Amino acid sequence: MIILAIDTSADETSVAVTEGRKVLSHIEYSQIVTHTKWGGIVPSIAKRAHEERIDFVIENTLKKSGKKMEEIDAFAVTYGPGLAIALEVGIDRAKALAKKYNKKLIAVNHMEGHLYSSLVQNSKGNPKREIDFPFVALLVSGGHTELVFVKDYLKYEILGETRDDAAGESLDKAARMLGFGYPGGPVIEKLASEVGNEDTYKFPRPMIHSGNLEFSFSGLKTSFLYFLRKMSDEEKAGQLRYLASAFQEAVFDTLVKKTEQAIKDTGVKRLLLGGGVSVNQRLRTKLKSMATKEGVEVFFPSYKHLNFDNAAMIGVAGYFRAKAGLFTENIDELDRVPRLSLLQSSKV
Ligand code: KG4
Ligand code: ZN
Repeated sequence: MIILAIDTSADETSVAVTEGRKVLSHIEYSQIVTHTKWGGIVPSIAKRAHEERIDFVIENTLKKSGKKMEEIDAFAVTYGPGLAIALEVGIDRAKALAKKYNKKLIAVNHMEGHLYSSLVQNSKGNPKREIDFPFVALLVSGGHTELVFVKDYLKYEILGETRDDAAGESLDKAARMLGFGYPGGPVIEKLASEVGNEDTYKFPRPMIHSGNLEFSFSGLKTSFLYFLRKMSDEEKAGQLRYLASAFQEAVFDTLVKKTEQAIKDTGVKRLLLGGGVSVNQRLRTKLKSMATKEGVEVFFPSYKHLNFDNAAMIGVAGYFRAKAGLFTENIDELDRVPRLSLLQSSKV
């Protein structure tokens, strides 16, 4: 099944043509430079930028795939979670295309895309990995932190999620407190690696003894802020790398500990990662050593760009939905759901 997939949930205007799990072509147009100076994504600017580029991106992705619009079997589009007015741009285009070419429409949950991003293959069908169910997925992005028990395709149970800030969001905020722009995750990773990921300050590991799989990163952010307030500018400047590193360690120790608990609770031996934070090498190293200890196989998105927002993962998640016969019944009625939960998109 050949799918043209669109994702405009945040700051990437992304389109892909996929066939099963293979990506025939994929173009993404990042707005990151536009948003950096504002310290985060500005919805109205994102919407306008999507509108300006979407038709161009669709046309060129199709051209690159070597397919014609008539050969597309279905259109897949992210309908949530994400920024309402940004999501709308992709949804409007997908609806118009499905109607014009009289094809099916598949509404995809953005987090479902991140969840299956390790299964996305290049046009040659690599990597070949087959993943057996059940597995645990740790989804860590700028807007979400969740541990999901995936029983089968489209059958999910949320084991735990964040009560406040997401892991990526907390790294973005910490970077901002240290004087860096958006996104903060890559800056923190680089600074930390320059001091060998040293944990000088031992900030609190939030909810580590809570006995459940919930996360909370806002208390850590506040204690980091108070800690910085007590330092002079010179002290801060001299300790920048150690501060970034200690903050990162606190966030990642918590992620690893809760993931380990999820694995023990469910008894599964497979772990999948997804979302922007999963590109981080320090997090990968820590998770891999936990996984080795627990005898668990761990999978990360196979290509770097698949960690971040992209339409390729939406095409693949769309393919799984299509295989289950889950198409949008009434195209005109499809609407954005900015706070869409994974459970709302579950098959069960
Ligand atoms: O999945 P994503 O691209 O977009 C959302 O759906 O949110 O994730 C973006 C998040 C941001 O918070 C960003 O700081 C974080 O991913 N991120 C990283 C790294 N690169 C991006 N976090 C840690 N280390 C990185 N290298
Ligand atoms: Zn995302």
